[in-house]
Amino acid sequence: MEKNFLSRTLAVIRDFSIEEQMFLYEQTKRLKEKWKNRENTDEFQIKEPVNIYIVFVEPSTRTKESFINAAKFHKNAKVNIFDSEHSSFNKRESYVDTFNMLTSYGDYSIFVTRTRLEGVPRLLERKVGEFADRHGIRKPAFINGGDGRHEHPTQELLDEYTFLEHKGFDNTHIRIALIGDLLHGRTVHSKVDGLRIFKNIEVDLIAPEEIQMPQHYIDKMKENGFEVRKYESIDEYLKEVKTADVWYFTRLQLERMGEDVLEKADVLKKAVTFRKDMLDKVREGTKFYHPLPRPKIDPEIPVFLDNLSLNGWEEQAMNGYWVRVVLLSMLGGAIKMEASFEETKDNIQEDEYEFIIPAKVTHGTKGVLKEGKRGIKPIDNGTVIDHIAKGKTPEEIYSTVVKIRKILKLYDCDSADGIFKSADGSYKGYISLPDRYLTKKEIKKLSAISPNTTVNIIKESSVKEKYRIKLPPRIYNFEEISCKNENCITNPKNGEGVPSSFIRIGDKLVCEYCETPHDHEEIWSI
Ligand code: NCD
Repeated sequence: MEKNFLSRTLAVIRDFSIEEQMFLYEQTKRLKEKWKNRENTDEFQIKEPVNIYIVFVEPSTRTKESFINAAKFHKNAKVNIFDSEHSSFNKRESYVDTFNMLTSYGDYSIFVTRTRLEGVPRLLERKVGEFADRHGIRKPAFINGGDGRHEHPTQELLDEYTFLEHKGFDNTHIRIALIGDLLHGRTVHSKVDGLRIFKNIEVDLIAPEEIQMPQHYIDKMKENGFEVRKYESIDEYLKEVKTADVWYFTRLQLERMGEDVLEKADVLKKAVTFRKDMLDKVREGTKFYHPLPRPKIDPEIPVFLDNLSLNGWEEQAMNGYWVRVVLLSMLGGAIKMEASFEETKDNIQEDEYEFIIPAKVTHGTKGVLKEGKRGIKPIDNGTVIDHIAKGKTPEEIYSTVVKIRKILKLYDCDSADGIFKSADGSYKGYISLPDRYLTKKEIKKLSAISPNTTVNIIKESSVKEKYRIKLPPRIYNFEEISCKNENCITNPKNGEGVPSSFIRIGDKLVCEYCETPHDHEEIWSI
């Protein structure tokens, strides 16, 4: 069975399975060889008419120009370079409206986008996909050419391809040092998943604490089975007996830094800049890479390195063209992949497993709360929400009680609440609601505000139903939730009118667009 890649979106590197990424690398190798031997490369040409739109809202040289050239490799492609400076973005038009329009100019479009806001490609995949369906147009494909600090999946493709070339296409092991601005650099964030094409992975993170890799990415690397080590500077790293043979430098992204970090920029820069006196400490066979650009003043990889065998970044940058030609071949339907059955399921499954779990009711349980003995009259009919924020401090429990009341609008009805000390010494909260039954939607909402709580339905003075509620697999469609990342396309501050949506991964809620992880308390604004 063959599978094609028409209408596929590459918003994050994980959108392509490891098998699919390896397929792209094999094809790139084949194309490069054919080109070198002056052989025919027609099989890589997109056969059907396609509109390729290059939409860059943030500055770019390599990514943009290599995409324009890669698009022009395809003779049937109409290549459009969108002038974002003079577009309706400046009349405050939304991304979705703009891209809907562009989609209607052809039967099939491939968009390459670069934006300051994070999560834009995922949003476009969904909303513009709906537009295409409404009008009987083939769903467009979206390629993320960098979205804020989030990801840069095509840089990841060319980086991994280059590492494989370096290793003679042996993917058994990689030890890589990531050096520089690991906080803001999207190219290193894509490494967290992109490096999984190797079977055994060691990552040395070299950066002062102020610009070190965010903890949630480090956690994800560990979950992915990487061995991770941290160093404050290259000097500290070079004290190691054995260092990596792949060094990946990144620029300090001054344009994304806050005032506090900017003040220290010179000191931070020194810690991640290579010097001549370090040369003899570098392991034999090492290559230096860099997504580029390197700044002309005080570059991290100074120009004296250009003529040394350490220089891997020029070959790397040139590979950008080949990898992107092949990616377009795939999305344009020119090359198809033999589909294997044991392909890894990478995409998040929306497992609808129950999060409102019926619990055993001990028949004859009178009145509800045992705590009723302390003076609260048990209710005859209604609902008691119990075990609220169990184990937290009384202050935290009280604030959860208030939050539940506010969000579920349970403040202007006959009700009572309180905090009790359990037999085990921990505290928990409850809200008692005589003659009030929560709807399924309210219980769902409650499970996202206060998971691990119990809902008791009381009829004729005894508990008739009891539910233990857990964090739902997906939280969306509530107007009180929002992503805390200010650069996320869903953040109300950005005015794109995109409702927030979160997926549960482990005990975190991850924004479906920018992938920022949240604790469940963080998503609610009241
Ligand atoms: C990078 C980017 O824009 O994320 N460059 C690139 O695409 N080749 C790195 C950077 O801006 O420093």
